Parts: sequence; structure tokens; C-alpha cells
Amino acid sequence: SAMHPLDQHGRPLHDLRISVMDRCNFRCPYCMPEATYGEHFAFLRNEERLSFDEIERLCRLAASLGVSKLRLTGGEPLLRPQLPELVARLRGIDGITDLALTTNGVLLSRHAEELRDAGLDRVTISLDTLDPALFHRMSGGRGALDDVLDGIEAAQAAGYPHDVKLNTVVQRGVNEHTVLELIERFRGTGIVVRFIEYMDVGNRNHWNPTDVVPSRELVERIHARWPLQALPPKYPGEVATRYRFLDGAGEVGMISSISQPFCGGCTRARLSSEGMLYTCLFATRGADLRGPLRDGASDDALLAVLREVWLRRTDRYSEERAKHQPGTQRKIEMNYIGG
Ligand code: GTP
Ligand code: 5AD
Ligand code: SF4
Ligand code: SF4
Repeated sequence: SAMHPLDQHGRPLHDLRISVMDRCNFRCPYCMPEATYGEHFAFLRNEERLSFDEIERLCRLAASLGVSKLRLTGGEPLLRPQLPELVARLRGIDGITDLALTTNGVLLSRHAEELRDAGLDRVTISLDTLDPALFHRMSGGRGALDDVLDGIEAAQAAGYPHDVKLNTVVQRGVNEHTVLELIERFRGTGIVVRFIEYMDVGNRNHWNPTDVVPSRELVERIHARWPLQALPPKYPGEVATRYRFLDGAGEVGMISSISQPFCGGCTRARLSSEGMLYTCLFATRGADLRGPLRDGASDDALLAVLREVWLRRTDRYSEERAKHQPGTQRKIEMNYIGG
């Protein structure tokens, strides 16, 4: 429709991913290494983060431009006080058909039911390994595996209307040897595990192409143990490639952002907790929405900004990765924009 802008590559705006909290209770070395995010790191002050009123207003406007899917992220979104209240408000927006949350799961057992009652459709939990010692190390020494497993169980018990998924980032030589164990544990439970190729997000994770385990290789390893069959994409540019277990024990997903980039169908915008709007996970610049919000901008003025940003959008970083010189441009950080 005329109200729904297309970007420079003809892509509509369908998803808005909202970081509600830049802090995290983990220090995963690939995302928030302790050396940078130590005691003295200056996180946002409360008043710098968008209020629920501000987030709700922006989501309402985004919905009128075609957004139907919202995902709450962080940092760790469950560190944001009163999150169920925000969920309930977003639930009430016309046109929002899918409301999801991405969390590290540590605080989830405490909040799973309340979030579901508030109207959250589904939860995605990050879990990189089932090896307790490795898990502890991969969380930067902050996390206990059992808390996350409790969170997953609580989410399942809460009976979300849609799915509970796991996201597993696979790094060569770090957790790749624990992948089959993860599948063994969750096959047949209704929980879909998705393996993500380790990406060069942000500026601090010292990413190297040799750290990536290509999905193709993982699929072969899994297939050798539990035969798989590829499923067709549900929509063009679907983030995960899906496979079903031939024995009927469910599905796994592969997120091949390095080996098979999916920018062509990328309909995602990201909002930081301080109200910067980005049109790519690898963006180097964003558009400030908090400024106009707090200067009393009208809905029409805010809509004009959102529309302009989307109309101008040319991002396809993952498809052009090879052309980018590592370290030449300052990208946004994962904890700030939420993956
Ligand atoms: P579902 O609707 O549950 O399928 O969610 P999704 O496909 O949007 O996936 P999710 O939000 O769980 O994202 C999983 C991971 O995929 C993220 O943490 C990122 O690592 C990666 N990812 C998601 N969206 C993008 C994207 O737009 N670009 C790139 N390069 N990676 C992405
Ligand atoms: N590459 C791929 N995925 C990443 N995540 C964080 N950093 C990276 C990276 N460099 C994942 C987290 C979580 C989601 C929010 O993003 O593990 O599952
Ligand atoms: Fe780890 Fe996610 Fe926290 Fe980053 S935001 S430190 S990936 S738990
Ligand atoms: Fe979208 Fe950017 Fe990811 Fe490509 S790299 S899929 S444009 S967020």
C-alpha cells in the first residue's frame, strides 16, 4: 500500500527489534567482553533509555508503516523493570501479529508466566552449550547453566501460544563439539534449536573467518547421526533454513549469516534502548528518534522520519562482507542493538 514504504532494494519494513536494556548480567566474550564492559563502563542512565510511553508510541507508528512483528531484546531485556507492562501495551497495538522476546534465560523462570499473561507470543533463549564449565566460561564467568535450563522449562510449562526456540552461536574450537549434545537433549521436546554462524558484529569480538563453522558442515554432522531433510523456506529471505528430523522428532534451524547471507529479504529495523533507529545489524550510523520525541514532535513528524530512513535504506552488509575492510568503520555493538 502507499502507506508502506519500500527501501532502495524494494524491501518492506515488517519487523522492529527493540533493545529495552543495554546492560546484561552476562559478559559473553564475543559480545560484552569483561575487559571493555567492566566496573567502569558507562551504561545508559535510566532517563536516557526510552520510556514505555515512548516505545509504545514508536511501535504504533511503525505498525502503521507495515510492521507486524516486534521482538524485545537487550543486552538482557529481563533486566528492564516492569517488562510485562511494556508487553501488555505492545500487545494492544493494531497490526502487531507477533510479539517475541530474546533472552539469555537466567531470569526467565521468574517471569515466564507473567510475560505470557501479558500477551507475549513466544520466547527465544540463547544457549551456546550444555557443558556447565564451558557455559560458565562462555558467559564471562557470570552464568550458571542450571538457571537457564530452569528458564527454558518454565517457558515450556507456561505454554506460550507459539514456539519456544533456542539460539546457539557456534564458534570453531570453542563449542562446536557440544552441538550434538544440544540436539540430543532437545529433539522431540517441541523446542527448536537454531545454530547461528558466528558473525563479525560490533568492533570488539576479534572475529576471524576461521572462527566460523559453516552450517553445511554442521548439517552433515547432524545428518550422520539423525537423518535430516531440508524444508522449503516459509518466506523469501527467511533468517533460518529449516530441517526436519526424518524420524519425526521435530526440526532444527541453521542461521547461515556468513555462508549464505539473507539480506535480500531483510525487512528488519532495530531500535536501541536510547532511541536510535538502525536499518542493519552492522550499521555504522543511526537516526535519533528520542530527540524529536522529547522535543514534542507530532506523530506526522515522527512518521516522516521513520519513512525517510526506510526509503533511503541500502543495507546489505552480509552480502558485501568481503568488500568491507575489517576495522575501518565503527559498527554498533550487539549489546546495544540486541542481535
Ligand atoms: P523467528 O521469527 O523466531 O524466526 O526469529 P528470527 O528469525 O528473527 O531470529 P532471531 O530473532 O531469533 O535471530 C536469531 C539470530 O539470527 C540473531 O541473534 C542474529 O544472530 C541473527 N540474525 C537475526 N536477524 C538478523 C539479520 O537481520 N541480519 C543478520 N546478519 N543476522 C541476523
Ligand atoms: N554472532 C552471532 N550471534 C551472536 N549473538 C551475539 N553475538 C553474536 C555474534 N557475534 C547472538 C547471541 C544471542 C543473540 C541475541 O545474538 O548469542 O543468541
Ligand atoms: Fe551474552 Fe546476550 Fe548478554 Fe551479549 S546480550 S553478553 S550475547 S547474554
Ligand atoms: Fe539485514 Fe543487515 Fe543482516 Fe543483511 S546484514 S540481513 S541487511 S541486518
